[in-house]
This record gives sequence, C-alpha cells and structure tokens, in this order.
Amino acid sequence: MTIATLADVMQPALRGGYAVPGLVCLGWEDTRAYVMAAQAECAPVILQAGPGCRAHTPLPVLAAMFRHLAASVDVPVVVHLDHGYTLDECKAALDAGFTSVMFDGSKLPLDENIAQTAAVVALADAAGASCEGEIGYVGYAGGAGSAGTDPGQAARFAQETGVDAMAISVGNVHLQQGPGTGLDLARIRAIEALTDAPLVIHGGSGVPRGQRAELAVHTRICKFNIGTELRMVFGTALRFAVNIDPSRFDRLAILQDTHEPVFEAARTIFLGLGASGRS
Ligand code: 13P
Repeated sequence: MTIATLADVMQPALRGGYAVPGLVCLGWEDTRAYVMAAQAECAPVILQAGPGCRAHTPLPVLAAMFRHLAASVDVPVVVHLDHGYTLDECKAALDAGFTSVMFDGSKLPLDENIAQTAAVVALADAAGASCEGEIGYVGYAGGAGSAGTDPGQAARFAQETGVDAMAISVGNVHLQQGPGTGLDLARIRAIEALTDAPLVIHGGSGVPRGQRAELAVHTRICKFNIGTELRMVFGTALRFAVNIDPSRFDRLAILQDTHEPVFEAARTIFLGLGASGRS
C-alpha cells in the first residue's frame, strides 16, 4: 500500500527541487495509465477527482478506484479531491477515503476564504489528510479572467489557514490547449519572499514545458495540475481507435488503444517535472 497525503509528496519535492504532477482523472483507463506511468518512472503521483469527474462518477467509487490502483504499485499515490467548493463536499471526500482535499475559496472575499479554508484544514488534519487552498482566482481559457495573487494576502492566507499547499494565480489559466505566454516569475518571487508555503499551479497544460521544468527546480512550486494536455492525448487516441475499424464495436477493445499514448504522455510529464526516479 503506497497511499500518501499531499504533504507526504510535496515536502520531499520542495526539498529535492522537483514538482509532482496533479493529474486530472476522468475514468478507469486514464487513471490506470497515470499510475502505471508513475510506477514506470519511479515517481510519486497525485490522482485528482475534479468537479466534472465527480458529476460523472460517484465519489466513493472514485475513492475506491484510486485506492485500489495505489495498492497495486510501490510509488506514493495521493488520492486528491480537486476544487471542492464547500466544507460538506470536502468532508464527503475524506469520509470516502480521500487522503487530500482542495478547498477552492478563491472567489470569496479574503477573510471568508481564510475562515472557510481553515475549517477544511482542521477537518483534514483530524482525518490524517492534507488540504490545499487557493488564493487569487485562476481563470479559464475563453471564460472567466484571472485575478493575480497578491503576495501580502498570500502570506496571510498561508499563515492563518495552515494549508499544506497553496494554489496561486500568476498568469496560469485552466483549459489551455497549447502553451500560453508563460508564468509571471516576478510575482512568484514576490510571493516566495513573504511565505514559505509549498506552491501549486493550476492550469499546468498552458505553461510552456521548458518553463515548467525551470520552475520545478528553482521555485517553491512543487505541484503542477495537468489535465487538458492529457485529455487531448486520450481524445485523439480514442477518435483514431473508433475510426480505424468501423466493424469494431466492443468498447473494451476500442479503449485499450488509448492506453499506450496516455501512458507515454504521462511518463514525459513526470520526467519534465524532475519527478522521475524520486520514489
Ligand atoms: P489544465 O486542464 O488546464 O491542465 O488544468 C488542470 C487543473 O488545473 C485542474 O485543477
């Protein structure tokens, strides 16, 4: 059993100068490929169930699936709730067996975000789990714009909530289908000057790979959330598998063809963040 908390994998990453990917999971095929890639790379991995995933599959099923996969390998696997918006949602995840929860209060006024995040931290602590919070709103490509993290507010947020990891808004945007303009290093440094909390970047798909690698080594960013990039690999492989043989109708045979491309793409992500060979 290699089930781990977020703190279990982020603290060594912080000390070692690398980052651990928080991979967005949507079902059995992609999640299994991510865990097998982590095992092949001897790397820790964070399996994330976000709102879309939870709307499709009940939380207890996801917890059991993630935990089952964790038990099948000997690298650390974090079972993480991504973007929980209420304390009840986070509590349900902890009750179901998640080892880490993200409470996203980034749209709330600062005091409210601090108060609600601190309550989730206390809940997670009591369950022996970790908590990630977010300060500064991270927007969506073609959707809501971002509100960059204020360094002073970030320091207060980290201090008063006691989060294990702090997601920040420094030019990152969710759902980008290609590399964007890159992150604002000056803002990252300003945040780091005021707090020593481990940092998280959501919208990792849009961060140019070279910058991802640099930031993993040279900053306190030790978790990159990556979803779109891998969902595109899965979707492309699935489309090809469906079209290549019109007589094939069995979903197991079709889905099998997604494994290799997703497995290989995930391996390059571990390698690029310096996480390979760390477990
Ligand atoms: P991307 O899909 O843009 O990589 O973002 C993933 C994410 O941040 C999930 O929280």
